[in-house]
Amino acid sequence: MHEALEKYGAGAGGTRNISGHNKHAVELEATLAKLHATESALVFSSCYVANDATLATLGSKLPDCVILSDSLNHASMIQGIRHSGTKKIVFKHNDVADLEAKLASLPLHVPKIIAFESVYSMCGSIGPIEKICDLAEKYGALTFLDEVHAVGMYGPTGAGVAEHLDWEAHANGKPRGTIMDRIDIFTGTLAKAYGCVGGYIAGSAKFVDMIRSLAPGFIFTSTLPPATMAGARASIEYQMAYDGDRRLQQLHTRAVKEELNARDIPVIPNPSHIIPILVGNAALAKQASDLLLRDYRIYVQAINYPTVPVGQERLRVTPTPGHTKELREKLVTALDEIWTRLDIKRTSQWAAEGGFIGVGEEGNVQEPLWTDKLLGVEQATKEIKAAGVPENGITEALLAREAHNTNRVMDVSA
Ligand SMILES: Cc1ncc(COP(=O)(O)O)c(C=O)c1O
Repeated sequence: MHEALEKYGAGAGGTRNISGHNKHAVELEATLAKLHATESALVFSSCYVANDATLATLGSKLPDCVILSDSLNHASMIQGIRHSGTKKIVFKHNDVADLEAKLASLPLHVPKIIAFESVYSMCGSIGPIEKICDLAEKYGALTFLDEVHAVGMYGPTGAGVAEHLDWEAHANGKPRGTIMDRIDIFTGTLAKAYGCVGGYIAGSAKFVDMIRSLAPGFIFTSTLPPATMAGARASIEYQMAYDGDRRLQQLHTRAVKEELNARDIPVIPNPSHIIPILVGNAALAKQASDLLLRDYRIYVQAINYPTVPVGQERLRVTPTPGHTKELREKLVTALDEIWTRLDIKRTSQWAAEGGFIGVGEEGNVQEPLWTDKLLGVEQATKEIKAAGVPENGITEALLAREAHNTNRVMDVSA
């Protein structure tokens, strides 16, 4: 990234079709196509633009097409569908029965696109990708999957949840016949796990060419600067080759969830790295966020209506590989004190009322997508127990081992 900046400067040079096309764009797109095991990929200024431009173009060019959209889809997809001017049908979040009923109501000859996400960022739920692919096959629909909150964080090479679901096959380099292979269009961001900025689509060469040729959001805007594209590519390749950051993020997530649960602080259960902490009141959520920043120097935003329904207001935490024990303890202690100061409902109080959106609901345990097996928890637990570590110290002991491995890798790469 530094080399590209020194050599080419900060600017982008122009639009892709004029003078913004360069080897950095070509190399980044080749890396993205390799990541998703697709023929082709195309980079946009952001994934907001990628989603908007792709759905708008596809929806407007496929005659009489209908887009079936998950009710929790991101604003960029909603905007793209609106811009396409085509018919939209919203199905209930992650509800394959509702999706099937809606697909079945359409004549077979009507072109259909199912637009959905893999990790939904406000609640941490995971899209039923395989079942949606089954329905797409049955009813002749294209699949459009936004992996923005999953790329770099799930799967053996960080390609996202679709890759994660066929771990063994992908770890052995066999992408064909997998769930990932059944997705027509992937979209992702370079701005979250990959730490840069920009967005992209990946799919068949013909499809990508069609978007390249027709999407105004690709054609009529400057490309990304070479330094950004070089940085993004380096980041993706690093994450493809090394899964230590993903593992550490998941272990930190487990540790924070465990610590919050132990303190009766209400975590909305989910299988991902997102930690939504239920407050249930807009004013209180804002106050809790303000206190975290003012009194504890911790920056966690309140999520209020319209991002979530009224009454489901929450704080949302996403641990990173850098959130070590000291930082995690600081967060959990601060939240505990704030919950007492503001008299916010705890899990046991939600449970006494019969539970709410998974909090305090008996038996609502969600197996993490990064299972014990993938994280090597079972084997490590045996070894750690044999070394005499008490049961409640296992996540921390695992973390110490993982951090040790990460430091070793960093030493080697330095
Ligand atoms: C699900 C989803 N899709 C797309 C985007 C847009 O990505 P970008 O920040 O690259 O515009 C976001 C951004 O937060 C998102 O959450």
